[in-house]
Amino acid sequence: MAKELRIGLVGYGFMGRTHTNGYKRVNDFFPELEYRPVLQAVCGRTEDKAKEFAEQWQFKSYETDWRKLIARDDIDAIDIVTPNDTHAEIAIAAAEAGKMVLCEKPLARTAEESLPMVDAIEKAGVANTVWYNYRRIPAVSLAKKIIESGKLGKIFHYRANFLQDWTIDADLPQGGAALWRLDAKAAGSGETGDLLAHCIDTAIWLNGSIKDVSAVTETFVKERMHTQTGKMEKVEIDDACLFHCHFDNGSLGLFESTRYARGHKALYTLEINGENASIRWDLHELNYLEYFDYSDDSEVRGWRKIHITDGDQPYMDHWWVPG
Ligand SMILES: NC(=O)c1ccc[n+]([C@@H]2O[C@H](COP(=O)([O-])OP(=O)(O)OC[C@H]3O[C@@H](n4cnc5c(N)ncnc54)[C@H](O)[C@@H]3O)[C@@H](O)[C@H]2O)c1
Repeated sequence: MAKELRIGLVGYGFMGRTHTNGYKRVNDFFPELEYRPVLQAVCGRTEDKAKEFAEQWQFKSYETDWRKLIARDDIDAIDIVTPNDTHAEIAIAAAEAGKMVLCEKPLARTAEESLPMVDAIEKAGVANTVWYNYRRIPAVSLAKKIIESGKLGKIFHYRANFLQDWTIDADLPQGGAALWRLDAKAAGSGETGDLLAHCIDTAIWLNGSIKDVSAVTETFVKERMHTQTGKMEKVEIDDACLFHCHFDNGSLGLFESTRYARGHKALYTLEINGENASIRWDLHELNYLEYFDYSDDSEVRGWRKIHITDGDQPYMDHWWVPG
């Protein structure tokens, strides 16, 4: 019988819903897990909204102050799904209270703000994670397996994009639900922390550490109305960020992220070119991995589009039938 892992969720927005969905389903598909998440309490600042979320998603209780949530002795893990400016304070308090800390990305707004979080976690010795979820997409996990098998040979290039188009409208305000992303005080950075953080995490996971970086950022819309003050205020986030880099393994990296690429919803793509083979992946077709192997018979050599739903592919022995 799996042991209970009593979750205290702080925030009930986009990620609050996705994490809760995962907690509800994970043991159905992975019955062998040692732990079973229990939806113990959700925390939100507005009582009626927290209560409504608790009822809709079947949390046992709710709180309106995350400090009270952390103080409860019937909570094992604090899941932080609030805007970036709140992560450090909540994570440090949770670690000091001996709770497991599950924190959304980016860890915090700056490295300076993140380092004390790491110190607090290490001092407390509590289990922890940052939700870099793209690693666990089956096709991306398969890419990792192929790279580790050495099939690509020496890696020359790593290329990644994360393209969206939802902030082009200059009338879109900054601040508040979801739009806190446009307010540097809440978000820390723009594209860099919101989207590129994912590309960088996947890249480091697949291709190792980054040695040096040269970057350019741009803020296309310079002023937006702030929802809290009602006034036009300077926009201090980056609307787009492009960088190139060297990896420790000698390969070159090229990254681009923007919310001004008209026509793209959330186009996260990556491509890795090795001496013997290449791999590419596209979030909009997330169950496919494309693979080119130079050792194939030249008459039929070309990009294969592999549908990742077969029982021997990552996680698929826990999923439905092939296809
Ligand atoms: N891993 C991913 O793929 C992914 C995707 C989206 C967002 N995120 C991250 O998740 C976090 C939340 O983003 P979101 O899209 O869910 O935002 P959101 O705006 O949809 O939800 C944020 C929630 O936090 C609540 N909140 C704000 N301050 C609070 C406080 N002091 N106490 C309690 N609740 C508070 C808000 O009321 C809201 O319920 C961010 O750090 C973001 O970068 C990660």
